[in-house]
Amino acid sequence: MEYEEPKFFEVMGYVGDAEHDVIDMVSGNPDWEPPQALRDGLKEYAEFEPDRFQYPPSDGTPELKAEIAERRGVDPDRIVVTNGTGEANYLGMAAALERDAGDEVLLTDPVYPYYPGKTKILGGDATFVPANRDGSLDVDAYREAIGDETGLVVLNTPNNPTGAVYDHAKVEEIVRLCEDHDAVAVVDEVYDHFDLSGTFESALTIDSEHRVVTSGFSKSLAITGFRVGYAIFPEWLAENAKARHMLVNVATTRPGQYAVLRGLEGADAAYYEAARELVRERVDTFTDALDAAGAEYTRPDGAFYVMARFDGYPGTMANVKRLVDEAGVAGMPGEGFGDAYSDWLRFALVTPRVEEAADRLTEFFA
Ligand SMILES: Cc1ncc(COP(=O)(O)O)c(C=O)c1O
Repeated sequence: MEYEEPKFFEVMGYVGDAEHDVIDMVSGNPDWEPPQALRDGLKEYAEFEPDRFQYPPSDGTPELKAEIAERRGVDPDRIVVTNGTGEANYLGMAAALERDAGDEVLLTDPVYPYYPGKTKILGGDATFVPANRDGSLDVDAYREAIGDETGLVVLNTPNNPTGAVYDHAKVEEIVRLCEDHDAVAVVDEVYDHFDLSGTFESALTIDSEHRVVTSGFSKSLAITGFRVGYAIFPEWLAENAKARHMLVNVATTRPGQYAVLRGLEGADAAYYEAARELVRERVDTFTDALDAAGAEYTRPDGAFYVMARFDGYPGTMANVKRLVDEAGVAGMPGEGFGDAYSDWLRFALVTPRVEEAADRLTEFFA
């Protein structure tokens, strides 16, 4: 079997090879500071006795699990601390598919490209359900698509790439459809702290045995390199997920879990609000420039991406490379996210140079 790598790496490699100045709006790496307490935690860790440099409990340190459990209002036994939200999604998807209750996987179009990749390595068959034009969920389309063969539905809110924050009632309807068809909904909430609309509600509040919630600290604590996330399973799926996590990973980073715990304790509401405010300002700056350039775009309610469409300039890999070469701005090709937005380009607003990038785009498309 041939696995498909998401296109992020091809674009990042192209940018890395460029010899001129390129503003990188490709990947979702926050450019702002983590909480100071997280930095302090890392320093403290360096001085610990060697026993703290050895394997932690496989499913997460008890301290971090207890903190997550308290914050999320769940039993710690239902939590697996993972190698980022990426692994949490993998475990959730595997838990759904290994039941032999159907191989079909319902994904949205547009889609975060790692989901189809994971579907393939897990032996699932992806069916894409188009989102509404504004990125919201089309529940009727799910009602039509779901069937006896459906084992898994993957949702992501706030959404990458559309910036949609799903209506909670719609997420609940889809979880209920999963219950009716013996499928499992995996809801990826890695952008839960980047709800710019104030309307986000976690799927955890839906009382269901057919729902897995995943999240992590890559975005909320600005540490994509640490690789700490978690999945919250219903009890009946938790044990197998823990076993899979142990067999694949042994455990995830112990110093990282310690630093995250310290970071969580140190990050007050103002820390998260400051990051959201920064994103809001960048959305305004960038979309003003897109207006000036005559582009169509999505204004995100959450996460930190803007999709833009320039007349006569479809979001192909070739056009992304041309933009790198000729405008000095790197985005992601819309075709990497499925069919619905294949004409579009995605820009990540995680650079202090958003204004400059906007100016470069305006000039290029003038
Ligand atoms: C929707 C979504 N899920 C998961 C991830 C990966 O998160 P993590 O770094 O916690 O593995 C990303 C990263 O961009 C993402 O956009």
